[in-house]
Amino acid sequence: MIVKSVLIFDSGVGGLSVFKEIAKTMPEQHIIYAFDNAAFPYGELADDVLVSRVCGMVSTLCAEHDIALVVIACNTASTIVLPPLRERLSIPVVGVVPAIKPAAAISQSKRIGLLATPATVKRDYTQQLVRDFAPYCQVTMVGSTELVQMGEAKLRGVPVNPSTLSTILAPFVNHVDCIVLGCTHFPLLKREIELVMGSDCVVIDSGQAIASRVNGLLNEEGDQKASFNRQLLHSVFSSAAVEDEVALNQEMKKLGFSPIKRAPIF
Ligand code: DGL
Repeated sequence: MIVKSVLIFDSGVGGLSVFKEIAKTMPEQHIIYAFDNAAFPYGELADDVLVSRVCGMVSTLCAEHDIALVVIACNTASTIVLPPLRERLSIPVVGVVPAIKPAAAISQSKRIGLLATPATVKRDYTQQLVRDFAPYCQVTMVGSTELVQMGEAKLRGVPVNPSTLSTILAPFVNHVDCIVLGCTHFPLLKREIELVMGSDCVVIDSGQAIASRVNGLLNEEGDQKASFNRQLLHSVFSSAAVEDEVALNQEMKKLGFSPIKRAPIF
């Protein structure tokens, strides 16, 4: 059996929410996690810059490691980079789609909220998703980079400020009964978001759906599935020096990662 890794990619630590679901579903699978912190936050980046960064960094990592499948664990990137990236790679590329369709089915009031980055809420891809899967729903969209930064800080041990969070979530309170976390950083703050929204509001994300898609694709590939050696730690690469690297490495170690290394120049 050939030992291959799954590459999970994001701008920062958000993709770790997807990593956790994949590791739960496939505990034997070796993971390489890579994040482009040099260009963080992706939600503020021009489209062409985003496409060239993601295609460049992911292609280079795929050329240097034995990768069975790529997960773009970033909603902001997934809305525009999947077609050009799939053209460049011969392995499966899985993206993240905001869970608008399940939210439309779950919501009783048919008033749902989408919490994402400023770029994701603006993109045609997202607007089309709403037209296709929630045409009869009122969808309130909030794009917040501050919340992305709060997710980064939490993974470095900084607690979430409840009043800042309440201000960000204000457009949803007493209005929607289901919130879609359309940015992979936000499941890292799910408990705090649920506390602000109360028990009448359901908070959903796409992590589990991605994990079962990845599992299904790897099972189809059969011989490419990794045989996991319990001594083998997951690997993590960043594109630039990491803020609070010691604190983040401690958190990553708990998830089974070796210390953060610099990604190859692309
Ligand atoms: N985690 C990302 C997402 O799912 C990107 C956040 C950012 O870098 O702005 O959209």
